[in-house]
Amino acid sequence: MRRSLRFIFRGSLVELSEIDPNRMLLEWLRETRRATGTKEGCNEGDCGACTVILARWQGGALRYQPVNACILLLGMVDGCEILTVEDLAAGGSLHPVQQAMARHHGAQCGFCTPGIVMSLVAAYLAEPRPVSRETIAECLAGNLCRCTGYRPIFDAAAEALANPIPDNPGIGIPDKAAALRALADGRDVLLGHEDRFFAAPAELDTLAEMAASHPGATLVSGATDVGLWITKKLQDLPQVIALNRIEALKTIAEDEATLYLGAGVTHAEAMPALGRIDPDLDTLMKRFASRQVRASGTVGGNIANGSPIGDLASALIALGSTLHLRHGAASRDIPLEDFFIAYGRQDRQPGEWVSGLTITRPRPGMHFRCFKISKRVDEDISTVMGAFLIEVDPERRILSARIAFGGMAATPRRATRAEAALTGLPIAAPAEWAVALRALAEDFQPISDMRASAGYRARVARSLLGKALTEIGGARSLTRIQPRGPVAEVAHV
Ligand SMILES: Cc1cc2nc3c(=O)[nH]c(=O)nc-3n(C[C@H](O)[C@H](O)[C@H](O)COP(=O)(O)OP(=O)(O)OC[C@H]3O[C@@H](n4cnc5c(N)ncnc54)[C@H](O)[C@@H]3O)c2cc1C
Ligand code: FES
Ligand code: FES
Repeated sequence: MRRSLRFIFRGSLVELSEIDPNRMLLEWLRETRRATGTKEGCNEGDCGACTVILARWQGGALRYQPVNACILLLGMVDGCEILTVEDLAAGGSLHPVQQAMARHHGAQCGFCTPGIVMSLVAAYLAEPRPVSRETIAECLAGNLCRCTGYRPIFDAAAEALANPIPDNPGIGIPDKAAALRALADGRDVLLGHEDRFFAAPAELDTLAEMAASHPGATLVSGATDVGLWITKKLQDLPQVIALNRIEALKTIAEDEATLYLGAGVTHAEAMPALGRIDPDLDTLMKRFASRQVRASGTVGGNIANGSPIGDLASALIALGSTLHLRHGAASRDIPLEDFFIAYGRQDRQPGEWVSGLTITRPRPGMHFRCFKISKRVDEDISTVMGAFLIEVDPERRILSARIAFGGMAATPRRATRAEAALTGLPIAAPAEWAVALRALAEDFQPISDMRASAGYRARVARSLLGKALTEIGGARSLTRIQPRGPVAEVAHV
């Protein structure tokens, strides 16, 4: 057991033997180290002003991730190099991204600029480097600028990303891979004492033992929900167990029939494998929050939080997924839909945790669709999320249907009446679907809240079911602004 936190900052190893379990990375940067180039805007992961890059040795490779420092717990950076805007200028010359931003007048008040630059530098370091306007927009979806207008920022991004400087010296410490590999020692970390601690186990068995013996402790995976409990709800979390150092929770395993995702797989890591199941999942993940949130937030956290509007739950329920849970040495598996019991209540005992998910791939004859409805295209939580798995026989009749919605009830839930009503109907005869569309009204009595009225939700749900059936039935009506992408080949990892 290691009793200290170790990471690299400004070229030196930092070793801390005492931290408050609720201390955020942004607070440490700005208040302890006076690294004030990194800004605080919203303090809830929305504006990107606090974006920094974490370099980490993971899965046998060096990885760079843009993250929101405002909602990342300081304890979670063990083993990383923290790179901030002050690290960019090498030998007195600005980084190519900074030069392009200056050349194109990409800053006015400059408050958002460090965050925008860090997001673009993360893109500059990515393989392959995004160069199209669409991918640049995706890189910047988590960064708000209030005054410049995005055109000059886009122009700067396009220029810098398309014309990388050969032999750019890079940022941060020179022999990064070796230094970070040395920090990835695979040891469990524990700081503090019995009543108030930050733990970051490296092994599954240590997590199992710690969670069982401290059932009141808060499990933190990516902290993109939990971070806001601290910064916005001002909660004090005395016992924190972070899951982000456990390699075994990051397993992704694909075969012909299933996809297994460990609970600690981040949304960014899950995206390619989900996209290989269906292009709608790729689109969904691209619209899931921002690159910063997807780099930290995990599949397990998105399910375990029990949110009625979590994006993955309804999609994965429709596909037919199994949730894997562990408590001490005991493991159990349940259908994902059974996990959500009521608002704020899941089938999880104190000390029990989600270890992973197995997702079933659609068989031949099965058609999947999912649609997220939110007020903004990017960086927004669903108002309604609908997911549909429709099996059609060679005579073009619906053999079976699995339909799940988020935002229509207190939990993500299946539309069992609509599913039953669809079974046996011809897929290409819209007049006959009316019975199923009506059945949706019996499946759900949605509420009105700040996102939408109950009536709006009910109408949208009907429209989404109609849209899925229209597409699967092969009607030539225009149902999308962007065409649905091709299904990628299944890769075996
Ligand atoms: C700006 C912003 C935008 C967002 N946009 C979206 C969006 O578009 N769609 C969407 O669905 N969500 C969105 N979210 C919510 C959030 O990012 C996701 O729910 C994310 O998947 C949570 O994962 P996490 O690993 O960060 O969870 P954490 O914050 O670490 O944990 C969330 C909850 O799950 C528990 N938990 C975590 N891991 C486990 C485990 N293995 N076993 C048991 N319990 C566990 C924690 O104790 C906590 O209760 C957004 C959040 C922010 C800040
Ligand atoms: S301060 Fe707005 S995302 Fe962190
Ligand atoms: S330049 Fe002022 S917020 Fe972007």
